[in-house]
Amino acid sequence: MFELSEDTQQIRDLARDFARSEVIPGAAERDRTHEFPAELAAQLGEMGFLGMFVPEEYGGAGLGVLDYVVALEEVSYADASVGVVMSVNNSLTIYPILSFGNEDQKQRYLPALASGEKLGCYALTEPSAGSDAAAQKTKVTKLADGSYQLDGTKMWITNGPQANTCVAYASMDPAMRHKAVCAFIIETDWDGFRVGKVEEKLGIQSSHTSELIFEGLKVPAENLLGEENQGFKVAMGTLDGGRIGIAAQALGIAQRAFDLAVAYAQERYAFGKPIASKQAIQWMIADMGTRIEAARLLTWKAAVLKDRGERASQACSMAKLFASETANFCADRALQIHGGYGFSKEYEVERLFRDARITTLYEGTSEIQRLVIAKSFLG
Ligand code: CAA
Repeated sequence: MFELSEDTQQIRDLARDFARSEVIPGAAERDRTHEFPAELAAQLGEMGFLGMFVPEEYGGAGLGVLDYVVALEEVSYADASVGVVMSVNNSLTIYPILSFGNEDQKQRYLPALASGEKLGCYALTEPSAGSDAAAQKTKVTKLADGSYQLDGTKMWITNGPQANTCVAYASMDPAMRHKAVCAFIIETDWDGFRVGKVEEKLGIQSSHTSELIFEGLKVPAENLLGEENQGFKVAMGTLDGGRIGIAAQALGIAQRAFDLAVAYAQERYAFGKPIASKQAIQWMIADMGTRIEAARLLTWKAAVLKDRGERASQACSMAKLFASETANFCADRALQIHGGYGFSKEYEVERLFRDARITTLYEGTSEIQRLVIAKSFLG
């Protein structure tokens, strides 16, 4: 049997206590008002949950990917919006700086991102570069002094309106597709950077998603992340880990939906008995519980491979695909078990149903995960 170490169990317990006492109580209200969870993000930073795999020398918690996924599942169990704020900071901003950045970049950016003093975002997607991430139109021009100028529009950027530090991608020559993509670390208060439209969404309402507009944005040479024209590998390597994060977020949603469904099935009476006594309900509970177990094992396996430093694209995509489909399955069945009440905003499963929906879309749709998995088998 796969057991967590005592240290990892302690991290899970710490995250669980915090999530249940501090995050759950305001989740429904934040969903209603769309208020960004700034205070919770600050608390997560203080607890080390925003920079979980940042080594202590850069001010982080010095933990592993498995520690991260168990903590992220707990936070997402309480509120998937808070979960994605944590996920984007750890997986999509800190990870590429830690893995592809030079010493100077790590020293300049990691401590503030790990403590929560600064928040990160990841700007890859564009209006016409979603699943086809290599179709970058944001243009990078190398200037005479060795610095760069970025012009273009990014969209669907989680944490976009709040972020201080942005890992962004642009192309030196769009015709060269992935071979001309460069990655940069951008400070969002630089001239030429602005936040565009903030999206109205179906779910994860208190996590904000926006356009980012680069107009003559000057980036100093020392903020190139990795090498020129090697940015696509930074993007893809980062997304492998990001996908484990979304798998953990999806697991949190699925587990919450399951727990609410089990409780409701035992307390709701129909035809003189709790509905949990009906085989129709029992089968739904059995299917939900089995899928959650399988999703968790896939997610933990991907995390362990990542902790070993192996390229784990197949395992990361399998975990993301299965856990995100499981979140949608469980939210749907939990709502069904709640009957008409599940359709009401007074019951949490209504929010879970909406929040689950994003997990099969961002950081690569289910179709893209299948493409990555198929490629790993077929070449
Ligand atoms: N790690 C390292 N390198 C990788 C890699 C990985 N995981 N995957 C691909 N590469 C390399 C390949 O080896 C290849 O390198 P060479 O040129 O040296 O051979 C190069 O990258 C190009 O690879 P492909 O030919 O496979 O590239 P492609 O154009 O066919 O695209 C894709 C592949 C999997 C479809 C990719 O475009 C993709 O993942 N698309 C989905 C994008 C996505 O997930 N976007 C999410 C946005 S972020 C988000 O949602 C953030 C948020 O705010 C929450």
